[in-house]
Amino acid sequence: MKYSNTIQFKMAIAISISFLLSNCTVSKRTNEPLGLKESYKNSFLIGAALNGAQIDETDPIVAKTITHEFSAITPENVMKAEIIHPGWDIYNFNYADKLVALGKKYQIAVNGHTLIWHSQLPEFAKRINNSDSLRYYFENHIKTLASRYDGKIASWDVVNEALNEDGSLRNTIFLQKLGPNYIVEAFRLAQKAAPNTELYYNDFNIENPQKRAGAIDMIKKIQAAGVRIDGVGIQGHWQVNKVPFNNIEESIIAFSKLGLKVMFTELDITVLPNPWDSNTADVNMKAENNAYFNPYTSGIPDSIQQIFTKTYIDLFALFLKHKKEVTRVTFWGVNDHQSWLNDWPIKGRTNYPLLFDRNSKPKDTYYNILDLPKQIQ
Ligand code: XIL
Repeated sequence: MKYSNTIQFKMAIAISISFLLSNCTVSKRTNEPLGLKESYKNSFLIGAALNGAQIDETDPIVAKTITHEFSAITPENVMKAEIIHPGWDIYNFNYADKLVALGKKYQIAVNGHTLIWHSQLPEFAKRINNSDSLRYYFENHIKTLASRYDGKIASWDVVNEALNEDGSLRNTIFLQKLGPNYIVEAFRLAQKAAPNTELYYNDFNIENPQKRAGAIDMIKKIQAAGVRIDGVGIQGHWQVNKVPFNNIEESIIAFSKLGLKVMFTELDITVLPNPWDSNTADVNMKAENNAYFNPYTSGIPDSIQQIFTKTYIDLFALFLKHKKEVTRVTFWGVNDHQSWLNDWPIKGRTNYPLLFDRNSKPKDTYYNILDLPKQIQ
């Protein structure tokens, strides 16, 4: 009797373990722990920005992280004009093509970043000083890229960062030489050249009310012109103690009311001191390094790590609450080692903004985010 009870007990334990494994933390297909893309597959795509070495799959650990965790990828730099279009009629598609092939190989959605942006322009384009030449550049650039990758990539950030903080149009070379209608024109050209690709507007701080109002005006103008815009990307470069949760939620609602998909396209959370009072992600703003601004060269204190984790949990809980409106959440980088925040806005700092550490090892934060969909549903 005693013996048979023990056997029954052991069987019951075995059955419970296999049930737990197959239903909770381990996928049946591969027996590997679930990755983010699997855990969030009924909610939204989970993406990462990739640099050149990652597109080349140089480091096997990082390559594994990318294919296991992410259902979307964005090129961190290789589709920007300064790289892909270095001369009037010279295009360098090498890495962009490789990125598209990587997406195809692993069935990962590719978001093209970005067609029209005032930063990271090639030298020849920066020097253009008349409207006709700039219009030639603008049309040629959009047509060439949008048609080459039509249907091969899921989406384009057609225009990036066209707004000031007060919601007015940023005084870029495009505004100066082509006039305020250039944004509608960019979407019109992209729509024509890429009928099978979704078209997005992308910017930082557009969750803030004034800038959001400017974005809404701009989107309404595009729609009123009968031109297609499918979504809006809120970049999401935030500071650990200052994530504007209410503004983010209001923005998800406001943008989706316009019939648009809402994405968080460049998510990272800095833990380092900010040299300015305001939050910005303007790549052209720079400050000087000193010890005060670079306090965690050999690791961050537990107290900060805990706030960081809590911030990510609160953010993803908000995204999950709005999973009907939010279609993608992309991190701006795979791991802390790669993050642009080690060098911006101050060069040579040690930052910790992502879910994977400098060795691409998942942080506790990662496991909390991984489990969240199960806990919330
Ligand atoms: C950044 C890249 O991560 C850096 O490698 C590069 O030196 C500068 O640009 N907003 C954007 C991104 O839309 O393209 C920027 O990426 C970060 C801010």
